[in-house]
Amino acid sequence: MGSPVVLGIESSCDETGAGLVRGGQLLGQAMTSSMEEHARFGGVVPEIAARAHVHAVRPVIQRALEESGLRLRDIGAVAVTVGPGLAGALQVGLAGAKAIAYSLGVPLYGVHHLAGHVAADTLEHGPLPDPCMVLIVSGRHTSLLLVRDLARDPIVHLGDTRDDAAGECFDKVARVFGLPYPGGPAVDRAARDGNPRAVSFPRPLAGSYDFSFSGLKTAAARWAEGHAGRELPLADGAASLQEAVADVLTRKAVAACREHGVGTLVVVGGVAANSRVRSLAVERCRRAGIELRVPPLQLCTDNGAMIAAVGDLLVRAGAEPAPLDLSIDPSAPLEYAALHPATSPAGALR
Ligand code: KG4
Ligand code: ZN
Repeated sequence: MGSPVVLGIESSCDETGAGLVRGGQLLGQAMTSSMEEHARFGGVVPEIAARAHVHAVRPVIQRALEESGLRLRDIGAVAVTVGPGLAGALQVGLAGAKAIAYSLGVPLYGVHHLAGHVAADTLEHGPLPDPCMVLIVSGRHTSLLLVRDLARDPIVHLGDTRDDAAGECFDKVARVFGLPYPGGPAVDRAARDGNPRAVSFPRPLAGSYDFSFSGLKTAAARWAEGHAGRELPLADGAASLQEAVADVLTRKAVAACREHGVGTLVVVGGVAANSRVRSLAVERCRRAGIELRVPPLQLCTDNGAMIAAVGDLLVRAGAEPAPLDLSIDPSAPLEYAALHPATSPAGALR
């Protein structure tokens, strides 16, 4: 018998996503976002996000099924993000996932959101080599990870951010620059005609695999304030900020690959959509003889397909399903891809 169709549900922040994956193949997916409802507040409002998920979750699953040419009863397992993320938002996805798993009598898997970002790449480029180096750069996290078998092995953290995440830095500086939310894509666009060497922004924590972006954020804000009353050379500021972030991220990732003798670097998460992060990673990996894998843009940002991809890996690895009293874990550390006691001993103690 082949492996089952896995439905993945993602609702950790402002995107409601559903995806269907079987045997490593993406069958279909759908996504909707409440981003516009948050834009006037300059950031995600948890209560608004949770309410939007309530309205979106059923139609999004329906659309993913239609895109795959499948029906509800074709689903053989359900995977859902249980953390990290906004509590109210996570609850909605988990409730939907439980309802479907219970009514169909199929297994349920609780998934770590960041493992989803890692697995997203397998939908485009096939199974991950063991080991591989993974740089996760999202709005909430920045981590450099040594990944072996994503479905079975613990994930080793070589470095994490000590303060702001890379995406957070883009979002916050964009506000100071007068750019719209979300800031990352806006900075990317504004940087197009800028000179990346116009402003020399700091590259903190050289020599460590940890990251720190709050000093860079402050430096960029100071630079903007220094132009009060004059026109801000926005393109140059954006290009220089982007260069600093891309430089720090790719320099450390390539150094980690070299030190650990790892031949593949995978760059995932929303900030992997950044044009300079991508081009500098290509350049430096090529020079270092490292294979670079970056998912296509629509799989970099939050989506349901990536959660289904983790579920599919767990199913095929023979992982223990989650109990139906599975609960959310809004600040779950990334230790294992699955987020329930059966595979995460640390989770059992919390
Ligand atoms: O992974 P993601 O969709 O959500 C989280 O789990 O956080 O990442 C969202 C982050 C936001 O901070 C957004 O500004 C950033 O990714 N982002 C970008 C770009 N596209 C999205 N940052 C820089 N350049 C981009 N093109
Ligand atoms: Zn994410």
